[in-house]
Amino acid sequence: MKKILITGGAGFIGSHVVRRFVNKYPEYQIYNLDALTYAGNLENIKDIENQPNYNFVKGDIVDETFIYELFSTHNFDGVLHLAAESHVDRSIEDPLAFVKTNVIGTMNLLNAAKKQWKDNFEGKRFYHISTDEVYGSLGAEGLFTETTPYDPNSPYSASKASSDHFVRAYGETYGLPYVLTNCSNNYGSYHFPEKLIPLFINNIINNKSLPVYGDGNYTRDWLFVEDHAIAIDLVFHEGKNHETYNIGGFNEWKNIDLVKLLCQIMDQKLGRDSGTSEKLITYVKDRPGHDLRYAIDASKINKELGWKPSVTFEEGLEKTINWYLNNEEWLKNVTSGSYKDYYKKQYS
Ligand code: NAD
Ligand code: TYD
Repeated sequence: MKKILITGGAGFIGSHVVRRFVNKYPEYQIYNLDALTYAGNLENIKDIENQPNYNFVKGDIVDETFIYELFSTHNFDGVLHLAAESHVDRSIEDPLAFVKTNVIGTMNLLNAAKKQWKDNFEGKRFYHISTDEVYGSLGAEGLFTETTPYDPNSPYSASKASSDHFVRAYGETYGLPYVLTNCSNNYGSYHFPEKLIPLFINNIINNKSLPVYGDGNYTRDWLFVEDHAIAIDLVFHEGKNHETYNIGGFNEWKNIDLVKLLCQIMDQKLGRDSGTSEKLITYVKDRPGHDLRYAIDASKINKELGWKPSVTFEEGLEKTINWYLNNEEWLKNVTSGSYKDYYKKQYS
């Protein structure tokens, strides 16, 4: 039986990956390791928590002794590493927290895997899930490819770039079998409402202002989170060792156009007059060091592994908005902070 460690499985993307692996691979024992920071929410995965192949471990990847003990107890066959501090705005306020989790935490996992596996890498794999933000900012033209030089601008992207470099260094120096992916902005269910799309959906529901940074002419390439989870599954099982794959939806939107689209759809869904939600748009002070444009060339993963997004942006956004409207309880628990009680209720 394969033992797979997934870190950050109570977060947004991690919860979709854990769900997919638990449901699709009953032959694997899945260990979800998560520190349950503000971004970790066990309600994200309550539908699979009683499955016989699911195990939750509360712990911090920054704690070296704990990570070594976990690896020596379980001798994992594979690691999918998603745990991270993930919000650019928070990285501007507290960069060191990002160095601790994203750099030191990744180092601890790499060292533990190297120590545990060193005599036998056969059948082992360390998968680091990363971001396109490591490549920096594009101008009006061009796409990030796997060979675009790293040029991170925010403390978040600098910390992810650093951890990517260490993963590659462990591959080159010690022969650690790794795969790495750099993905564009995700959207979908269970997304913490501090990021653009869930924050604005929640604010529209509650008639609160929609703070658009700067002039709103910043571009992001949006991918439905379940398509990211499908890509992660594929790369984990079929990606080549020591390779990087870019993942993206070929789906660029200027922030302001995306926000206006969200407003229109939300007006229809909520039975409000057309134009009601747009009145909530407020242009606010720009984010310092704001990257102008991200856009991914995902042709390598398409050609080599046959992956492409399964839904259009219109379909994905519709599913996402419907999910938030149908899961008000989840949203309420997240915004009130009561989601933090779930661990105590279920596990202690
Ligand atoms: P998230 O913030 O929603 O979740 C992060 C999870 O990691 C949380 O459950 C949190 O509790 C856990 N965690 C944080 N610090 C930890 C620590 N020290 N020890 C153990 N667990 C800890 O993040 P996300 O948006 O799901 O992103 C997951 C991964 O995907 C990250 O590595 C991120 O860099 C990457 N990524 C995200 C996006 C995106 O659009 N969200 C795009 C590309 C790549
Ligand atoms: P975000 O969801 O924070 O993701 P990232 O910074 O990793 O791309 O932001 C997406 C875009 O939306 C980014 O250009 C910043 C912008 N933005 C706003 O204009 N207002 C907001 O309140 C937030 C959270 C983001």
